[in-house]
Amino acid sequence: MPTETKTERRSFLKRILLLGGLTISWGGIAAILADVWLAAGLFSSAHWRSLVTQEELLSEGVLPFPEQGVALLVQKDRIAALSLECTHLGCRLNVVDEGFFCPCHGSEFGPRGEVYTGPANRSLPWHDIKINRGKIWVQSEAQQDAPIWIALERNGRGTA
Ligand code: FES
Repeated sequence: MPTETKTERRSFLKRILLLGGLTISWGGIAAILADVWLAAGLFSSAHWRSLVTQEELLSEGVLPFPEQGVALLVQKDRIAALSLECTHLGCRLNVVDEGFFCPCHGSEFGPRGEVYTGPANRSLPWHDIKINRGKIWVQSEAQQDAPIWIALERNGRGTA
């Protein structure tokens, strides 16, 4: 075999190996970046939803957000977020004078989500809540057994 053909063949093989190596490297980098991006999405503020500004809050009472499945319980100087999804089969609850009522099968819940009448047999879960730049944010995917009360600053400025 002539020397020139051997050299061309070697050069061709080197290019193929280099191209393969680069492809594998970029694929690995892309996979790592995808993992980081997905992990960041899980822990980012993407799951927090802004419901209302502090100025729009009642001075006291229950402020329902049926489309988000959340009710804000507002007291003079604090606020908490309660689920509006029935713990029986997940129907959306109505706010009534005594607490919450499920139109699907008649379960009744007290003003803090405690079960008064079944068929539901578990209290309503609470959600994480925060105030940022004057807006009330709720993370409805995370469910808690106890309320998370946060302080309100009635001058319109929130705490992070
Ligand atoms: S879904 Fe609420 S009582 Fe059945």
